[in-house]
Amino acid sequence: MRFQSQAVVALAALPTASGITPESMLAANRYGAAAPNPSGDFALYTVSNYTFETKKRSSQWNKLDLKTGEISVWYAGSDISEVVFVGSTPTSIIYVNGTNAEDDGGISLYAADANSLEDAKLITSLPAPYSGLKAAQTKSGDIHFLVYTKAYPNGTAYNEASASTPASTARIYTQTYVRHWDTWLDDKKNAVFGGVLKGGNGSYSFSGELTNYVSGIANVSRAESPYDQSDESDYDISPDGSGVVFLTKDPSLPLANNTANVIYYVPFDGTSKDAVPVNARGTTKYPEAQGAAISPRFSPSGKKIAYFQMNNIAYESDRNILYVADADPEDFNVTALALDWDRSPDSLAWSKDSETLFVAAPDLGRERIFPVPLTAGDSYVPKNITNEGVPSGFYVLPDDSILVSDSKIWTSRDIYTISPEGDVIKTYFQANLVDPALAGLKPEDVSEFYYSTNTSEIKQQAWIVYPEGFDESKTYPLAFITHGGPQGAHFNSWSTRWNFKVWADQGYVVIAPNPTASSGWGQNLTDAIQGRWGSYPYWDLVHVWDYVNSTLKYVDTENGIEAGASFGGYMTNWIQGHELGRRFKALVTHDGSTSTLNQYASEELWFMNRDFSGEFNSSGFVAGSPYYDWNPLLYVDNWATPHFVVHNSLDFRLPVSEGILLFNLLQTKGVPSKFLSFPDENHWVLNQENSLVWHTEIFKWINHYSGISNSSSPY
Ligand SMILES: *[C@@H]1O[C@H](CO)[C@@H](O)[C@H](O)[C@H]1NC(C)=O
Ligand SMILES: *[C@@H]1O[C@H](CO)[C@@H](O)[C@H](O)[C@H]1NC(C)=O
Ligand SMILES: *[C@@H]1O[C@H](CO)[C@@H](O)[C@H](O)[C@H]1NC(C)=O
Ligand SMILES: *[C@@H]1O[C@H](CO)[C@@H](O)[C@H](O)[C@H]1NC(C)=O
Ligand SMILES: *[C@@H]1O[C@H](CO)[C@@H](O)[C@H](O)[C@H]1NC(C)=O
Ligand SMILES: *[C@@H]1O[C@H](CO)[C@@H](O)[C@H](O)[C@H]1NC(C)=O
Ligand SMILES: *[C@@H]1O[C@H](CO)[C@@H](O)[C@H](O)[C@H]1NC(C)=O
Ligand SMILES: *[C@@H]1O[C@H](CO)[C@@H](O)[C@H](O)[C@H]1NC(C)=O
Ligand SMILES: *[C@@H]1O[C@H](CO)[C@@H](O)[C@H](O)[C@H]1NC(C)=O
Ligand SMILES: *[C@@H]1O[C@H](CO)[C@@H](O)[C@H](O)[C@H]1NC(C)=O
Ligand SMILES: *[C@@H]1O[C@H](CO)[C@@H](O)[C@H](O)[C@H]1NC(C)=O
Ligand SMILES: *[C@@H]1O[C@H](CO)[C@@H](O)[C@H](O)[C@H]1NC(C)=O
Repeated sequence: MRFQSQAVVALAALPTASGITPESMLAANRYGAAAPNPSGDFALYTVSNYTFETKKRSSQWNKLDLKTGEISVWYAGSDISEVVFVGSTPTSIIYVNGTNAEDDGGISLYAADANSLEDAKLITSLPAPYSGLKAAQTKSGDIHFLVYTKAYPNGTAYNEASASTPASTARIYTQTYVRHWDTWLDDKKNAVFGGVLKGGNGSYSFSGELTNYVSGIANVSRAESPYDQSDESDYDISPDGSGVVFLTKDPSLPLANNTANVIYYVPFDGTSKDAVPVNARGTTKYPEAQGAAISPRFSPSGKKIAYFQMNNIAYESDRNILYVADADPEDFNVTALALDWDRSPDSLAWSKDSETLFVAAPDLGRERIFPVPLTAGDSYVPKNITNEGVPSGFYVLPDDSILVSDSKIWTSRDIYTISPEGDVIKTYFQANLVDPALAGLKPEDVSEFYYSTNTSEIKQQAWIVYPEGFDESKTYPLAFITHGGPQGAHFNSWSTRWNFKVWADQGYVVIAPNPTASSGWGQNLTDAIQGRWGSYPYWDLVHVWDYVNSTLKYVDTENGIEAGASFGGYMTNWIQGHELGRRFKALVTHDGSTSTLNQYASEELWFMNRDFSGEFNSSGFVAGSPYYDWNPLLYVDNWATPHFVVHNSLDFRLPVSEGILLFNLLQTKGVPSKFLSFPDENHWVLNQENSLVWHTEIFKWINHYSGISNSSSPY
């Protein structure tokens, strides 16, 4: 074996397939967030999984009794895609059946009592793939509901299944933003539709009439809500059903180089012509609020609308500021809460009395929940009431406790309640204690450290994830995983794409650093990446490596590997050309960037304009400019470390040519390399069968070069 050492011999004795394998992780249950009914007696959540033997996906709804903690199957099937609690009793529901017996590509709405689902009544079938149901009962007993789907320019809902196919496949554009994420953009745009269900007591009638609130807003060429790849979090209905809020990107600006959003308010009984902006740029007390907005939410009283907005008009990672507006089109009176708070919250829930907002924000490697009272002034500093994990949903219950569904590196789902002060009241579910695939996973598998570096005054953090059967007196090769973004973070959360424990259980100690650009340590650390792609974060990673090498005796740094996706892939390519690259036995780039010039083939030009401190131009492409200085290709002569390259065809963020360029150059230079590409995957690999190949091929590569496997070839 090429890289055999004392350490590796000790390792060879470890069974490599112990702990959690890619296959068991990918087959394991995936849980939705538990959503409570209005009386807080029970909550519903989805569970889905995949079976490799039969190639079957299955999903069901579970019911969690919040009084007894009992969990039962509520509905064993996948045709119920959404459930909304609305109607005359706390168990009245309307659900979306994702199939439609009459129209191919449509859906249907049913009314039921959650306690006797078998008596569900079909209300209506809708002839397009609507989703994102939100609903409120009015004083008269009628139900006002919202759904969204794509619409033609004339406002009519679009159903791909019944639409006629044009004779030519040509796509023609006259302005930027021709595609986004994994989709070529065309004249069909999302719109929020409202409808009225007449009647009550679970027996409703529907006229078939839906109002499109988005297409045709006065003086606006083409609004879209939910915006592009977003979802129902972009709109809301007031608790009495009288008002609607939705957000759209500011349609008066070029979409590819701006992030500005506008939130509109429209009376439910109105049309898009009546939509009025809540936060039009320059119209509130906060002229600096120009950027992306998210999560407009009515208060339970119906009197307020909360939302987040960034200041910068062309930066997706500026700090989110929490605003509250009066739900009064005469004067929205937008007010910021905790304006100076150096965190960037991104989801929220109102307290029942409408006096407090609970917000979740990245905080020191976790996503923590913080209460913010409506009285919070600019200098108010919220205090967290949760600690570990990243919530995927949280709801305030009638007794003011908060039902949280989160995940951690060691568990794919925990469900528990906390008091508004942060005391854990009851833990209902911990996936690692019940799922066979997660057996043995525990908080002790994970640790963290803070390291000093020469880019920030604050110390920076990194996660450590230990392999199954970890023994401090032995050594394990280093798996060094660099995160994407670059604005983002390695969180204490479960991932089915980069699951640290799955990597560790191959026999590595995983080190997952949060260098310059990471979110959760204040906006300065996030922003410090601007114009410095190849310097600050790279220097930080060198400091992390040195810290590990000098401090963690159980880490075999001689036989380490490095891997990263997206910006992490860019950084891997940068590392390949620099000294740090010589300290790894193998590298893995997933959907990264190889040439800074080619980043202008991305769809979000605001990203490059911001991160590289200006639009690209030839006179700026000289030494000293970020586009020039941080181009990994400048260092191609140094490339030497075996390199595994993944790049998918449907990745429009970083086009597949980036991966092909990288692979072609590695091959040209004779550097051992392998190229993996999925024609049906985007920036991510989501399909379980594809993901299994992704893991198998990457692990074959790194395990060979790290010496974990005794295979004679990485191929
Ligand atoms: C997978 O899901 C199905 C239905 O949702 C369930 O019956 C089955 O027990 C699950 N499999 C595992 C391994 O949990
Ligand atoms: C969903 O709709 C289909 C018809 O399209 C029907 O056969 C099925 O029973 C419905 N399921 C539920 C739970 O309503
Ligand atoms: C809207 O446009 C679509 C596509 O051209 C067409 O099929 C539909 O009939 C139009 N709807 C109305 C109300 O004109
Ligand atoms: C609901 O049922 C109650 C009792 O049967 C009846 O008084 C009421 O009018 C019904 N409401 C509607 C909207 O049908
Ligand atoms: C639309 O533009 C016209 C002309 O500039 C203006 O008079 C009108 O107030 C605008 N309407 C709205 C709703 O902004
Ligand atoms: C945005 O793009 C348009 C063309 O699509 C261009 O005219 C404009 O200068 C750009 N503005 C910024 C701030 O990047
Ligand atoms: C606007 O809201 C602020 C903060 O809640 C309040 O102090 C002020 O009186 C309000 N102004 C109006 C005109 O309602
Ligand atoms: C709040 O975060 C701190 C770490 O900053 C943690 O020690 C503490 O336990 C958290 N508080 C609660 C109530 O979870
Ligand atoms: C962030 O950086 C600015 C400008 O360098 C500085 O004035 C400010 O104090 C810093 N804030 C924090 C929280 O470090
Ligand atoms: C910061 O540290 C890195 C890694 O040791 C080093 O390469 C770089 O030159 C240092 N930068 C400065 C400004 O000292
Ligand atoms: C790593 O640590 C070892 C032992 O402490 C030392 O000999 C070696 O020089 C270090 N490697 C680097 C690149 O600093
Ligand atoms: C070209 O880009 C550089 C660096 O971003 C900038 O300083 C310069 O003003 C730009 N020149 C023109 C003509 O836009």
